[in-house]
Amino acid sequence: MSGPGAAARPDVLPLVPAPRRAVATPGDPLHLGAATRVVAAGGAAAVGPLVAGRLGARLGREVPVRADDDGRPGAVVLRLVPGPAADGGTDAGDPPGAYRVTVDGARAVVEAADADGLRHGAATLDQLVVRTPDGGAGLRRAEVADAPRFGWRGLHLDVARHFHDAATVRALLDVAWSLRLNRLHLHLTDDQGWRIEVPSRPRLTEVSGATAVDGDPGGFFTVADLAAIQAYGAERGITVVPEIDLPGHVNAALHAYPELTPDGAGVPPYTGIEVGFSRLHADVPATAAFVRDVLADVAAMTEGPYLHVGGDEALTLEADEYARLVAIVAEEVRRAGKTLVGWQEVARARLAPGSLVQVWDDREDLSAVADAARRGARVILSPARRTYLDQKPHAGFPVGLDWAGTVELRDAYEWEPADVVPGLPPAAVAGVEAALWTETIRTRDEVLTMLLPRLAAVAEVAWSEPGRRSWPDFAARVAALAPTWDEAGLPWYRSPQVDW
Ligand code: ACM
Repeated sequence: MSGPGAAARPDVLPLVPAPRRAVATPGDPLHLGAATRVVAAGGAAAVGPLVAGRLGARLGREVPVRADDDGRPGAVVLRLVPGPAADGGTDAGDPPGAYRVTVDGARAVVEAADADGLRHGAATLDQLVVRTPDGGAGLRRAEVADAPRFGWRGLHLDVARHFHDAATVRALLDVAWSLRLNRLHLHLTDDQGWRIEVPSRPRLTEVSGATAVDGDPGGFFTVADLAAIQAYGAERGITVVPEIDLPGHVNAALHAYPELTPDGAGVPPYTGIEVGFSRLHADVPATAAFVRDVLADVAAMTEGPYLHVGGDEALTLEADEYARLVAIVAEEVRRAGKTLVGWQEVARARLAPGSLVQVWDDREDLSAVADAARRGARVILSPARRTYLDQKPHAGFPVGLDWAGTVELRDAYEWEPADVVPGLPPAAVAGVEAALWTETIRTRDEVLTMLLPRLAAVAEVAWSEPGRRSWPDFAARVAALAPTWDEAGLPWYRSPQVDW
């Protein structure tokens, strides 16, 4: 790391999110150089290329992966072990994703009971890389034992209002991996554009792939693009959750397929940023077949178990018709063998147990969400005032919206997921997700500046137990981490709340 933060704070381990246990052990960093190699055999072998690739990028040299451990110094060993050896400090044993990292003067060892734990340990290892005075690099000596609080740790990206391409998505997957996130939720469709090829409904992208807010350039992912994004995510332990927003936010669909409108005349394209005006019609004959075709195709191209069906802001639909349409959608998700995820409005409809409800507007009455949880739904927390990272960090910020207020770094950090929904059984909390809507966000650099450092704050809320979290401690660690963003060429927002 070349920036001042890490050098100025040699005592701070720049680990974000905060691990359950971490101690810096005495001694010079473990030298990284010609002898450095990744040792990974059996089930750990799948994680070898990720670790070697990342260490190689930091070192500027190729790092080999070997199956055999010859015992010589300089090895970075990845090992799958039975749960207790990776104990993250819980009485109930290791939750999925727990890991242990030990760096001494001879080698670094990452142990976990599952491959995702190894991937998280690899991210911790990456944060322990330090520049040494001779201009080389090393790994700080440390012992870390860690496990996640919540199983769902997400990042949402809206590619519908403005399209953001696969290269940007890969950059976000790298950032998400580094912060131990494990879901990338892609908001693929909205009034302004349709961003995923649907083989049975080609006009969706042929016609509505080209439009975007303000007449800006459009774009879309092909089936092959989505497969490649999912593979890149899987290598990093991140499941892609595609969202097809129904039954509202559908102007792009109505424009491409006029038979979805009551008079069959269709609608013009929409390039503004209002919400809530478009809708499917339960009594239009083409609607059910459209929902079936789209969801079956998207389910077939989705590796993960989840299908997000939106459900938000269908403001022109009466409650009855909304419930009928959500029932049609839910039946197709069930038929496709996927787990339904929807924004908080879907809590008003009948949902299969195990469905996931994503809270976003905590100014609203959330009693239907708590009721749905009592009937077996689980809840993802994305309260806009905390996790909507498209909201400006301060009023003068050049991009972003502010309908939920400003979201400074400390706002994104200092909140408790279990307190968001009154009456919610704590066990119903599946996790936490940050969201980036892109009405005003056009470029990769704008995306990253909105996310960093606030995504690190939300990631810590999602990963770290409340007793491990404190603002001054986080502020020191995130300041020590920021030089790695500079090193990676990632632009970030210098929040005045932190002494960088
Ligand atoms: C949303 O922000 N409309 C989910």
